[in-house]
Amino acid sequence: MADVHPLIRDELLPPGPSPRRHLISIADLSRDDVERLLGLARTFARSLDRDVKKLPALRGRTVVNLFYESSTRTSSSFELAAKRLSADVMSIKSSGSAVEKGESLKDTAITIGCYDPDVIVIRHPEIGAPHVIARHTGAHVVNAGDGKHQHPTQALLDLYTIEEELGHIEGLHVAIVGDVLHSRVARSNIQAFVLMGARVTLVGPPPLIPRGIEAMGCEVSYSIEAIEAADIVYVLRMQHERMLAGENYVPSLREYAARWGVSADRVRPGQKVMHPGPMNRGVEIEGAVADAADALIARQVRSGVAVRMAVLFDLLTHGPVELKVAEIEAVA
Ligand code: CP
Repeated sequence: MADVHPLIRDELLPPGPSPRRHLISIADLSRDDVERLLGLARTFARSLDRDVKKLPALRGRTVVNLFYESSTRTSSSFELAAKRLSADVMSIKSSGSAVEKGESLKDTAITIGCYDPDVIVIRHPEIGAPHVIARHTGAHVVNAGDGKHQHPTQALLDLYTIEEELGHIEGLHVAIVGDVLHSRVARSNIQAFVLMGARVTLVGPPPLIPRGIEAMGCEVSYSIEAIEAADIVYVLRMQHERMLAGENYVPSLREYAARWGVSADRVRPGQKVMHPGPMNRGVEIEGAVADAADALIARQVRSGVAVRMAVLFDLLTHGPVELKVAEIEAVA
């Protein structure tokens, strides 16, 4: 709990019984849940390939996107996903809102709760913020990234992208390279890849790999050569915004790029390269690698809309999945 901001620490009580469903962590999901969500995403992706992309599935529902941290991909794709499903969408950024006047997360949650939103999507720099929203509103809550804890929809869209590209996840070897210590994407993705039967190796300098992380079911290597054996090289950004002031995790970015950067001479043809974005070209990834045919980075972004449509739809509908897919296809 050392990572929890004092403003929200006293809110992290065990949640009471609730008929609502939230997506706060990949740990909330079983393998069946993931397979159901990926199947739904495939259905929605088909609707996105048509000239008229809008479906009436969530007409009359309200989705609020509440972002306390900067975002391009996650905020835009959640907004587009909700609009593609015909929901009413409100997007609120902390910058320019009453947060700048000192309003607490609890009071913002209570305020937004007055509009009876069906889903609140929240990104926040502090671990546990989605729990605060769940406690003080009647909405289903989706975690769009809380501190270095979790980013579950990123992991789902990554699974979706891999399955679309390679046809399966089970048995693949994924090397996650770079700043694992500060990465919510790494935590969500380790859980997701292991859940779906992939082998995961974390690769990076010792100060950026948390001690004991092997307990999550992955391996660790402190040698960049370890990426050679992987089917997928998943590159992480150096997350300066979560690094402690005064801590020298690496001697310099130039040295980091030289020793740990994923460059063209370190990947082999056919090896798939992924990155959640935003990228620091020339630091953790060379531009030529990011732009190569084997890079799945743009496809990850594209997958985000269909996968987030699936998550919103799944939270708000409780019928058997076969019925839901049939319903979608009936109106598609
Ligand atoms: N991958 C990701 O979360 O990107 P954004 O910060 O742009 O949303």
